[in-house]
Amino acid sequence: MSRTLTPLPHVRGEIAVPPDKSISHRAAILGSLAEGESRFENFLSSADTQSTLACLRRLGADITQNGDTLAVRGTGFAGLTEPADVLNCGNSGTTMRLLSGVLAGRPFRSVLSGDESLRRRPMGRVAEPLNRMGATVTTTDAGTAPVVIVGGKLHGTSYESPVASAQVKSAVLLAAIQAEGTTRVSEPVRSRDHSERLLSAMGVKLFIDDAPQGAVTGLTGPLTGLKAIDMRIPGDISSAAAWIVAAACHPDSDLLLTGVGVNPTRRGLIVALKRMGAQVEILEERRQGGEPVADLRITSAPLTAGEFGARFVPSCIDELPLLALAATQAAGTTTISGAAELKLKESDRIASTARLLRAMGATIEPLDDGWRIEGPTRLHGAEVATEGDHRMAFLAAAAAVIAGGEVVVDDPDCATVSYPGFWDDLERLAGEAAAVAR
Ligand code: S3P
Repeated sequence: MSRTLTPLPHVRGEIAVPPDKSISHRAAILGSLAEGESRFENFLSSADTQSTLACLRRLGADITQNGDTLAVRGTGFAGLTEPADVLNCGNSGTTMRLLSGVLAGRPFRSVLSGDESLRRRPMGRVAEPLNRMGATVTTTDAGTAPVVIVGGKLHGTSYESPVASAQVKSAVLLAAIQAEGTTRVSEPVRSRDHSERLLSAMGVKLFIDDAPQGAVTGLTGPLTGLKAIDMRIPGDISSAAAWIVAAACHPDSDLLLTGVGVNPTRRGLIVALKRMGAQVEILEERRQGGEPVADLRITSAPLTAGEFGARFVPSCIDELPLLALAATQAAGTTTISGAAELKLKESDRIASTARLLRAMGATIEPLDDGWRIEGPTRLHGAEVATEGDHRMAFLAAAAAVIAGGEVVVDDPDCATVSYPGFWDDLERLAGEAAAVAR
């Protein structure tokens, strides 16, 4: 079933964006491994986080969801038991990779699989360090799921990840907690640090070194007794991103987004847009469970082109398709490079973003590791494809808000992966625009 989107005359109003997906996954996983009951308020209920909950329950975890509160009665790593069936991770790379780290140290066999998109994504990147630590992790010959893990006694290692990946780093850290000795994982640039923050809040002593030649994270195991915690999960900046970009590009906007996580390892979109001249105010920055949270106010301003490279990419990885949209509205040539990882997401986002924006009239050239984009271009209506990728649904919607004609989106339901209320929020924004116009 497709959905027809009409451009909005204004982008005005207020949206409380949904809870952070990355932190919700980690809360459920680490809560299950802690000793005692943790309570997470504002837990995201979406297709991806439901995959994590289903896998954890299949491993014996005791989790109760009441509205947006998640109560997890953790019984330590030893509380997990051999699953009777395949662990179905659905569309969620975070579920598959983080659980691989946990299961590498458990003395039983587990099989992790997922949907067609997830079964195309690289899992060798977690199998390799976990095997080095003493587990037996196998994938298909292509390095993809199903992933079969026979866990065992682990030992520490020093692993240099060639990619800045929070999923790889987190998998290694989750194994390191169970391993004898010191584990260090380095990455070219620090990726999102939610695991580090949550582990610290649960009493784990990590060493963290952010040197220009690479970001190192490590710990000495084995550790027992992760402390149970209570936390309110921040709003997801990746879900806020469609609204941020739509408002930044629209000539008549004044939008308030409340309770948005603004962790420095995640807020690259705000940094980039400001560099391009956008008016994005960070209001009332506060802390929530070890994470910075703020309200964001976005008002219209003319945009100019920018250059964004590899050091910048990890802080904006899931928002790059929307940054490409902003670039179509900016004067000059924008280059986004160092982002080859985009090819390995839920879709090949270098190709899918270029296809979607070109269909709407943008001048965008896909590169091996990003795009070159000329602007500003008035986008026109078109029929566009999400390719089953939630981030493409958000891109289509943000582009439709500022376009000159109707946009027909082929598979809008994939938004439920991270933002089940997305289309309702768009309708509310459209309703407010219509009310203001009357
Ligand atoms: C995530 C890390 C990123 C990101 C993904 C969520 C996480 O992936 O793209 O949406 O929760 O750790 P990589 O670690 O593969 O870069």
